[in-house]
Amino acid sequence: MEKKKIGFELLIFEDETELSQNERKLLRNAMDARENAYAPYSKFKVGAAVLLENGQVVIGNNQENASYPSGLCAERVAVFQAGAKYPGVAITSIAISASPSQHEEAVPAAPCGNCRQSIIEYEQKQKSPISIILGSEKGPIYKCVSVADILPLAFNSSFLKDS
Ligand code: THU
Repeated sequence: MEKKKIGFELLIFEDETELSQNERKLLRNAMDARENAYAPYSKFKVGAAVLLENGQVVIGNNQENASYPSGLCAERVAVFQAGAKYPGVAITSIAISASPSQHEEAVPAAPCGNCRQSIIEYEQKQKSPISIILGSEKGPIYKCVSVADILPLAFNSSFLKDS
């Protein structure tokens, strides 16, 4: 039996002033998008901003529904819109911002499992990493250099192929 430890490097910034100018702008786009989220049921607003290789930014926010499971997370609204609007253009990074928590020791909200799976699809397709920036106006900002880091052993299209 072999034991394998899987880990990743999480970059932690004290606040947005420590980010590069582009990252800071992208995070601001996510925070702005968050304000227009349609979240009347959970009251938990999330915004996302996707930066593409061609310099375009595509935003998304969570869209809820009276039939709860019919709603969609901010991240998927953003990446699916990017795929529809700019097909085949690689994604460089995605910034995600949930409403700041009132807790003293707040850490940034991270994407749900479904969103990680949706984003990794594009990472695998484009064969280049998509970095993830998580944060809000308050508390630290987290950065992962690749979605694969936060979704180890991900399901992917290779499993669908005939052996
Ligand atoms: N939500 C997101 O938009 N992104 C996530 O990664 C986690 C959760 C949304 C879905 C729902 O509208 C609300 O937050 C509460 O779960």
